[in-house]
Amino acid sequence: MDAVPAAIAEALRRATDTGGHICVLTGAGMSAESGIPTFRGTHDSLWSRFDPMRLATAEAWREDPALVWGWYRWRMQLVRDAQPNAGHRALATLAQRVPLSLVTQNVDDLHERAGSLVDAHVHGSLFALRCFACGRAHAGSLDDYVGGMQRVEPMRCAACGDRIRPGVVWFGEALPDDAWSAATDAAMRCTLMLVVGTSGLVYPAAGLPALARRHGATVVEINPEPTALSAEVDHVWRATAAHGLPRFLG
Ligand SMILES: NC(=O)c1ccc[n+]([C@@H]2O[C@H](COP(=O)([O-])OP(=O)(O)OC[C@H]3O[C@@H](n4cnc5c(N)ncnc54)[C@H](O)[C@@H]3O)[C@@H](O)[C@H]2O)c1
Ligand SMILES: [Zn+2]
Repeated sequence: MDAVPAAIAEALRRATDTGGHICVLTGAGMSAESGIPTFRGTHDSLWSRFDPMRLATAEAWREDPALVWGWYRWRMQLVRDAQPNAGHRALATLAQRVPLSLVTQNVDDLHERAGSLVDAHVHGSLFALRCFACGRAHAGSLDDYVGGMQRVEPMRCAACGDRIRPGVVWFGEALPDDAWSAATDAAMRCTLMLVVGTSGLVYPAAGLPALARRHGATVVEINPEPTALSAEVDHVWRATAAHGLPRFLG
């Protein structure tokens, strides 16, 4: 097993010994080893012939809500059937030892199920269902999902009768204010930022590492592949989340 590279271990020691604060920014790669496909990785699902960029928009919803809801029901079921991996669990343990803020772009709940408190879900949460028209939170349970690749007619809002949508941020939509301000606060306050499993292509979230760096933090990327952020971080560790993060626990 590879150890944490010396320069990164030293950055972690420096950040925590001096009363510093760690901010962890996670993306879809964080959950890849739990079996949740990333957007830009390889999919082996039946849905792979659909482009998420064209399903995860309000326009797609207006055009064919049953197609979009069917895709999200499939994703929700994948998440429900998945378990947090060793990387999720390591972050929960690390947070008990050092001051740590967790900012995720993931819409799954695997950090929470591993025992972490998530400071910001900047792209929302799959299961925070709300009405497409009036925004009211959906209080009822999820509809029964039969599985497979099919259209599923969305549930209806008890208040206005419009369709219930997933609680995610679609392309072209604004980020939730409270989550975004928690994320920028954490980025500006931290002395060390760990950027795990994100391609760094989706803004404004992809701007958080640069924000942290401008405010004096050391930024470390943990990702098996080079990304759009690799050139602007202080250290890069080519490791996966489930392999690399537990090494931080010593
Ligand atoms: N699990 C989820 O909630 C989920 C899944 C897919 C997409 N999304 C959404 O899609 C958007 C896509 O952006 P993104 O940057 O998060 O994902 P992305 O799909 O664009 O990039 C995934 C990144 O993870 C890396 N990666 C793959 N396997 C890894 C592993 N085992 N360990 C560490 N890194 C690994 C890849 O090299 C890549 O850089 C996000 O905003 C997110 O909301 C969420
Ligand atoms: Zn409504």
